[in-house]
Amino acid sequence: MAHRWINDLTAEDATPFSAYMNRRQIMAGLAGLGLGAIAAPAAALAPAGDLTPNSWEEITTYNNFYEFGTDKGDPARYADQLTTSPWSVTIDGMVDRPGAYDFATIMDRMTMEERIYRLRCVEAWSMVVPWNGFELADLLNLAGVQDGARFVAFETLNRPEEMPGLRSPILQWPYVEGLRLDEAMHPLTIMATGIYGKTIPNQNGAPMRLVVPWKYGYKSIKSVVRITLTDTQPPTSWNRYSSREYGFYSNVNPNVDHPRWSQAQERRIGGGLFSRKQPTLMFNGYEEEVAALYDGMDLAEYH
Ligand code: MTE
Repeated sequence: MAHRWINDLTAEDATPFSAYMNRRQIMAGLAGLGLGAIAAPAAALAPAGDLTPNSWEEITTYNNFYEFGTDKGDPARYADQLTTSPWSVTIDGMVDRPGAYDFATIMDRMTMEERIYRLRCVEAWSMVVPWNGFELADLLNLAGVQDGARFVAFETLNRPEEMPGLRSPILQWPYVEGLRLDEAMHPLTIMATGIYGKTIPNQNGAPMRLVVPWKYGYKSIKSVVRITLTDTQPPTSWNRYSSREYGFYSNVNPNVDHPRWSQAQERRIGGGLFSRKQPTLMFNGYEEEVAALYDGMDLAEYH
């Protein structure tokens, strides 16, 4: 069976955004004519499992990147100040070949793919993004993971001159994240360098950001400058902020609520008829692929 996240699915296979919009407008029209009862079942066209990508506009103007401010529009407004070339990623800790890996060299060595993934923010909104990138496992193998490494720590650039948000002490900077090694090596885990076949915009984490589709969006750390292999669980930014509210694992789970709001449903960004709440899927819809990673774990305790 072809896996739905493998290379053979591209943005062209999904309903083109324009056709999708037309369909929505048509249905909105039917509803306006009092044919709501006929149009209503069509809502099933956009269930939580729908993989119709959001528009470029939506993906690049509604962002969380606190280094540029906390308003959803701040990253698009201010991130063009960010210098992304030259760029290198330091890979260190328990690796055979530690060092600063130049971004261009990484791009030369990696196999690029398109992956259409759901993105579910802990704030209970979601999108579908057609990423371009490569499997993180390939990059870690380039550096050579040593026996005994159990976790991977990630760090975002910390450059106050170009990141106005760093003036606010909301989080402890730089932004840091972490994964268990088996999560990092999972084929669903990618480093994204593009969206819709174009270079990833700064506000989405240029030139290279992590994407872990079965976890809340804050695990998908942007503009990565350091990757460290370690034998101890690394600190993570939102867990430092409130360990009660944000666990290390942060797997999308409709049955484990945030202490201040329900995670059972989500609002799909994109407006119109389908912006209504829809059910959140276990592991954000990737249960078949990743549930085995957590066999025997109490997912409420390890949230
Ligand atoms: N990475 C850094 N460095 N800083 C951030 O504030 N926000 C996270 C994550 N990565 C964030 C980050 C959150 S909360 C989400 S939901 C996603 O990025 C949003 O990614 P997007 O803006 O590409 O949709």
